[in-house]
Amino acid sequence: MLIKKIVILFSGEGSNLENLLKKLHKKSFKSFQVEVVSAITNNPDAKGIQKAKNLGVDTIILNHKTFKSREEFDTKLVETIKNLEVNLTVLAGFMRILTPIFTNEIKAINIHPSLLPLFKGANALERSFDSDMKVAGVSVHDVVSEIDAGEIIMQRCFDKKEMDFDNFKSKIHECEHEIYYKAVLKVLKI
Ligand code: GRF
Repeated sequence: MLIKKIVILFSGEGSNLENLLKKLHKKSFKSFQVEVVSAITNNPDAKGIQKAKNLGVDTIILNHKTFKSREEFDTKLVETIKNLEVNLTVLAGFMRILTPIFTNEIKAINIHPSLLPLFKGANALERSFDSDMKVAGVSVHDVVSEIDAGEIIMQRCFDKKEMDFDNFKSKIHECEHEIYYKAVLKVLKI
């Protein structure tokens, strides 16, 4: 059976990381098996580290605070990912702005908690909730040097109705978990 390898990058809670591992790691699809060869975090205290471990995946810690510059961090990140020889890099709540050192070398996708191209960048969830729009949603997109501006791969939207913020946040995460693994399979052409 052919194996398609991915690496997942995260910074905090790791709910998307956990969901991707449950849906994809060592699972067979048609003639392919997906293997999450490693996770990578920039945050030594990220809750996702234990979540990955519980599901049999180790996390490489690259603490950005120990690097002199964004460029030096990205250079090490690129080297680490290249050594893993993956088919795809999956960003799941990886809270670092990436320079062209990364985006020119690594094929990566990201999940963003808004209906892009609306609400790019930080606090997208809050800005989407506060907006006058009647719908909200999530987007999976290619990672390019301009933040949240790569080609859109998959989206899911919902009616905001009279939701309070906690319900809204839960619905965003529910949508993320519904589509992200499907987007990974689509990009891997499985
Ligand atoms: C998600 O809402 C994702 O869209 C954003 O960061 C959040 C990460 O959440 N980029 P988690 O760590 O996967 O729980």
